[in-house]
Amino acid sequence: MGLLKSSIGRKFAMALSAFFLMFFLLQHFAINITSIFPDNGATFNKLSHFMGTNGLVQYVMQPILIFGVVFHFVMGFILELKNNSARKVSYAKNNGAANSTWMSRNMIYSGAAILAFVILHFIDFWFPEINTKFIQGDWSGLHDGDFRYFHELQHKFQSHIRTIAYVIAFIFLSLHLMHGFNSAFQSVGANNKYTKGLKTFGKLYAILIPLGFVFIAVYHHLKYVLS
Ligand code: HEM
Repeated sequence: MGLLKSSIGRKFAMALSAFFLMFFLLQHFAINITSIFPDNGATFNKLSHFMGTNGLVQYVMQPILIFGVVFHFVMGFILELKNNSARKVSYAKNNGAANSTWMSRNMIYSGAAILAFVILHFIDFWFPEINTKFIQGDWSGLHDGDFRYFHELQHKFQSHIRTIAYVIAFIFLSLHLMHGFNSAFQSVGANNKYTKGLKTFGKLYAILIPLGFVFIAVYHHLKYVLS
């Protein structure tokens, strides 16, 4: 693919996959936040069942999402390797905070932490879903006569260790987005009169979305511990 042969092309493609994942994260958050509604999971169950059984979501959007996730991680590692090999004398002129932020130099580490989280997260939620639907052939969404999604979510956040691991991952996510959002806009050449507003929006997104996920995890954990 021609676009991926040049370093600018790779950065551009990386930015496009980043925008796509940020959009996914927003819709993922919008659905998950309904799990704290005072209706004992009714809305969350309804939305999860729709997303989990709708043909367009399952057979079109889901494969695109998986491609987007894999592409972003693989391209992230390739960009890091290329940057390092281009930089024969390691950062002779880069004296740390003087000409780049700590986070911008460590995207690969925050990215790797998020990858570790995504693997744990898939083991927790996604693989069991795929198993139930595509291997066992059960598309009912039911367990013991009731929708299973909310129960599974509550069950996962009973564990102290899992809740702590999720919260740590969301902190890394925030750090990653803090640099990633604005960097992605720069890669697609969005340098104009809206730059300041975009930067503020990027910072807000990078703080509020991960904080919202922390809230959901801690909410379900405390609800269990205090009940
Ligand atoms: C408290 C926070 C979160 C909760 C409760 C949660 C819950 C879930 C659940 C229940 C599923 C299974 C959906 C299904 O297939 O039926 C899922 C899938 C997924 N989650 Fe999360 N999630 C959280 C945070 C995140 C974050 C921060 C990311 C990204 C960094 C993420 C990425 C994904 C991905 C990529 C999938 C698979 C895509 C799909 O649903 O098809 N999640 N999550």
